[in-house]
Amino acid sequence: MSRLDTTHTDTRIVGRPINRLDGPRKVTGAATYAYERARTGEALIGVYATATIGQGEIATLDTRAAQAMPGVRLVITHRNVIEHGTLDAGNPGFATRVRPIMAGTRIHHFGQPIALVIADTFELARDAACRIVATYVSAPGMFAYAQGNTIGEPERANAGFPAATDRGDFDGGFAASAFRVDRTCETLPHYAQPLEPHATLARWEGETLHLTTSHQTLLYIKVTLKASLGLGEENLIISAPFVGGGFGSKLAIHADLIGAAVAAKMTGLPVKVCFTRQQMFSLTGIRPWHWQRVRLGADAQGRLTAIGHEVLLYSNARDPFVEQTATVTRSLYAAPNRLTRHRVTHLDLPNGEAVRAPGELPGLLAVETAMDELAEALDIDPVELRVRNDTTTDPESGVPLTGRSLTECLRLGAERFGWSDRARQPRARRDGQWFIGMGVASAIRMHFQGATEVEVAVTPAGRIEVRSDLTDIGTGSYTILAQVAAEMTGVDISNIDVALAHSRLPAGGGSGGSWGASNTTAALHAACLALLERAGVSAGTDFVREALAIHPAGISARGSLPSMANSPDWHEKSRHTYGAHFVELAVHGLTGEVKVRRMLGVFAAGRILNPKTARSQLLGGMIWGLSAALREGAEVDPRHGNVVNADLAEYLLPVHADVPDIDIVMLDRPDLDANPVGVKGVGELGACGSSAAFANALYNACGVRAKKFPVHLSSLLSAMAQ
Ligand code: MOS
Repeated sequence: MSRLDTTHTDTRIVGRPINRLDGPRKVTGAATYAYERARTGEALIGVYATATIGQGEIATLDTRAAQAMPGVRLVITHRNVIEHGTLDAGNPGFATRVRPIMAGTRIHHFGQPIALVIADTFELARDAACRIVATYVSAPGMFAYAQGNTIGEPERANAGFPAATDRGDFDGGFAASAFRVDRTCETLPHYAQPLEPHATLARWEGETLHLTTSHQTLLYIKVTLKASLGLGEENLIISAPFVGGGFGSKLAIHADLIGAAVAAKMTGLPVKVCFTRQQMFSLTGIRPWHWQRVRLGADAQGRLTAIGHEVLLYSNARDPFVEQTATVTRSLYAAPNRLTRHRVTHLDLPNGEAVRAPGELPGLLAVETAMDELAEALDIDPVELRVRNDTTTDPESGVPLTGRSLTECLRLGAERFGWSDRARQPRARRDGQWFIGMGVASAIRMHFQGATEVEVAVTPAGRIEVRSDLTDIGTGSYTILAQVAAEMTGVDISNIDVALAHSRLPAGGGSGGSWGASNTTAALHAACLALLERAGVSAGTDFVREALAIHPAGISARGSLPSMANSPDWHEKSRHTYGAHFVELAVHGLTGEVKVRRMLGVFAAGRILNPKTARSQLLGGMIWGLSAALREGAEVDPRHGNVVNADLAEYLLPVHADVPDIDIVMLDRPDLDANPVGVKGVGELGACGSSAAFANALYNACGVRAKKFPVHLSSLLSAMAQ
């Protein structure tokens, strides 16, 4: 049972578009990030020198010139680095895998660290790093997919999902279908590009390591450093009060953190390490390259009879990560005959990692563009086709889908967007030299739950304090927790403090995978109920005063939420968030330029805690969809394995001029089958399906069905000429 108000009255706090409580500190510079935590002179600076070959061996490594520079304290290479663990490739969790730096002379990918220079200033360290001279013996590497590359069928995809599923008889069902679509598409790798690059300040005090770091999840640092440095929780103090974005790239620990920790140990002094923007393209994980095939069979009424989704993706053989791309199809549409598959190919690139909407972003791009093709083959409206295949039962597990509002999102969106103005034929709507097109796509995102504990206290100073190790990666964690505590206790939000992201605070699963808000507010809800009961005072504006009258030293209580694995009835329901994306764009008939005109997203993600911060998450995701369809992709040089466009000048991300007004509607409806607060996540949802809506709008505008993403101007122009 939820004790939070489910009505839309003026008195409720949860559900109001309250500004970020940390906003003033951020815009005045008072909120300091990991790299700002030590000023010049307070910490040594580490800068990496990195490999300039894609595959092979270090032959010679001359560090003498660097070491001779005044102010250079230490040069760490494979020759002198202290023991810090070995790669545990068998660990199924990519985010807790030990990845030692400078572990030997073997080069596994371009940009791999070969030395870490520690100096008094950043400029010195960078200068010295440039003076390190390495020679190599290159070996042939596989940097681009080619038929015949090592191919395997893993048993599991990321997050423990089975890699393959079968229901009914896909081959028979597909062959017997009256209407069939067989579509393939290729997507380039992505790198998450948070504004704040990965950065860590490390300091040892005896056997205890103090870290201030830019990270999503303290839990994963604890687990990884236990295996890597043998550090128990009692010897590890982590603080990450402000984090400038993550998008999955700050779930696992990277060379900034392990390098700073190792260097601080070796020098006996505080050390900080931050990646350059260019290093983000070799020292963080990659969203893998994908090739996908989607086959859809339907009857004449547009009911799916067969749905097959096969994924071939890059997964580094020595450090595997199988993005769960085909899983998106398992709960999306009803169909009796089904098949999903993941196969992997090895490339000599950095390991894969979760990059926002892992699974859904590439997966929905493939499935939802195939749905558009099917709608055309059937001559059924694309919105209508999706509605006809909606279901209240999970098509693969057979259990009820909770909070399923897909049809509502589609219908509401179509009405609001003016979908009836869409021309059924491509190239049918023109505005001068521009072709105008509209596209739609469904959104679905899986819902996770992780073990979480939260404490809430009445302090002797007369305030309420919420305590959790959750990070706020820019999403509004401080604000939503204060809102929940304010509403649960009846205390004005100005009297609530929120202490986050310190390893001594009650532990949870951090911010990632769209689970931060749901895990933590559900545990906080329980903590507040416990506090009200322990205090023996009812909620209201006088709650603190009355509680302190009985408990003058203050009083606190804890609440917890079990993990999915420890929730016995978890698998009796299938929990997801949903949405519908609508896009209108224009394609210039002569130049192929694409201008996005309008975007609408309608989303159902359970209770919306704060429509302002939630909107900002969804909006960012929708723009990521634009990016994946039309801009963003890592171009790997097939000869050397380096990312050619490894900076923000050439790794194209949408800018303000690319993005029109964005309309977002949230169906604010608690899903109490998810948790007692009824909240699910919005972090990834906006990026689920949106790129397919762009691709479908592109087809509707100019008649080109893109097969490779992002769609480059050159390929669009030549396709339009045909
Ligand atoms: Mo999520 S992949 O932690 O944006």
